Amino acid sequence: EKAGYDWFMRKEIYEQPEAVANTLLGRYDVDGALRLDQMSIAASELKRIDKIVVIACGTASYAGLVAKYAIEHWTRIPCEVELASEFRYRDPIVGPTTLVVAISQSGETADTLMAIRHAREQRARVVAICNTNGSTIPRESDGVIYTHAGPEIGVASTKGFLTQLVACYLLGLYLAQVRGTLFGDEVERLMAELEQMPDTLRGMLENQDQVLKLASDFSDNPSVLFLGRHVGYPVALEGALKLKELAYIHAEGFAAGELKHGPIALIEDRLPVFVVVPPRGRDLLHDKVVSNIQEVRARGAFTVVLAEEDDDEVSPYADVLIGLPKVSTLLQPLLAIVPLQLFACELATLKGHDVDQPRNLAKSVTVE
Ligand code: F6R
Repeated sequence: EKAGYDWFMRKEIYEQPEAVANTLLGRYDVDGALRLDQMSIAASELKRIDKIVVIACGTASYAGLVAKYAIEHWTRIPCEVELASEFRYRDPIVGPTTLVVAISQSGETADTLMAIRHAREQRARVVAICNTNGSTIPRESDGVIYTHAGPEIGVASTKGFLTQLVACYLLGLYLAQVRGTLFGDEVERLMAELEQMPDTLRGMLENQDQVLKLASDFSDNPSVLFLGRHVGYPVALEGALKLKELAYIHAEGFAAGELKHGPIALIEDRLPVFVVVPPRGRDLLHDKVVSNIQEVRARGAFTVVLAEEDDDEVSPYADVLIGLPKVSTLLQPLLAIVPLQLFACELATLKGHDVDQPRNLAKSVTVE
C-alpha cells in the first residue's frame, strides 16, 4: 500500500499535487464566486466579524501563521494565531464577533478541541479546517472546510500541511469576497494561481535530486538552522520541525530579521543555514532577506537558499541554490516547504530512523 515508496511519508509528499487539487475541487463557480459548502456561518454574520483567532498545534499552527499574513492582507480583519495549548489558560478575549479558526488534520487533537470548547463558551463562532470526516473538532464547530488530502499515515504531517494552507487561502479569499475587500480581479487571479499549483508542484517533485544529495552531505551535522521572513518564516519553522521529529537533529527556525537580536551568535563555520527567499517584488522584503544571507555567510555559514529559479541577485551568496517556480509571495509556502520535507525524510532514512513512526510521537495527540 506504499505504492513502491519506502515510507508512507515519502508517498504522501509525492501525493501533494493531487491532494491540493482535491482541496480546491468544486470551490469556485463559473460566475467567479467562491463556494465553501459547509461553512454554515451566514454572510451577514461574517460581515460583522471584527477579529479572527487561529488555533492549532505543531505543523497546523504554522499553516495558521501563513493564514494570518494572507487573511489580514486580503480582508483587513485583525487575525492572531495561537497555540491551542496556550489559548484557554490565559483568559483570551473572544466573543460573538470573533471568528475562531481551528486547524487540525486529525480533528481529534485534545488541545485544539479544548480550545474551541472554551471559545464557544464565550459565544465565538468556530470554523474548523480538518482532514478527517466526522471527527470531533468539526462536529463541535459551526462550520468546516475539509481538506480532502486523503488519509495521512506518516506521523509527520506533509500533505496535511499543504492542504491546510490551501484551505486557509480559500477561507481568506472567501471572507474577502463576502466583505468586498479585494479589488478588481484579485480573487480570480489568486484562484487561477492556486488552480495552477498542482501542476507546478508536480514539476517540482520531479526535480529534487539536489535536495536528496544534500541530505547525504549533511547526515552527520549536529545542528541546522532555517531562516525566513513574512510567510517564509512559518516555512522555516516547519522545515525545522520536520528535521527535529524525523532526523532527531537539533534544528531551529528563525525570522530572518531577528538574527541580529540573538541567533546570529549561533553561526559558526560550516553550519548549514537554509534560507527561504521571497519572490522579487515591489517591496523590500526580497532584498532584506538577501542581506540576511550575506550576514550569515560572512560568518562562515553554509547557505542553502530557496529562491526563484532565476534569482541572480541571490545566487552569488548561495552555496546551494534550490530553485522555486515563480508565484505570488503569499502562496510561496506551498512550494518552498516541499524541498524541506524531502530533505528531512531523506536525512532520517539515511540515519536509519523509522520515518513513518518517529520515536516518542503519536499521529493524533488525544490528551492535553
Ligand atoms: C508534525 C505534526 C504535528 C501535528 C500536530 C497537530 O509533523 O504532525 O505537529 O501537526 O500534532 O495535529 P492535528 O493537525 O491533527 O491537530
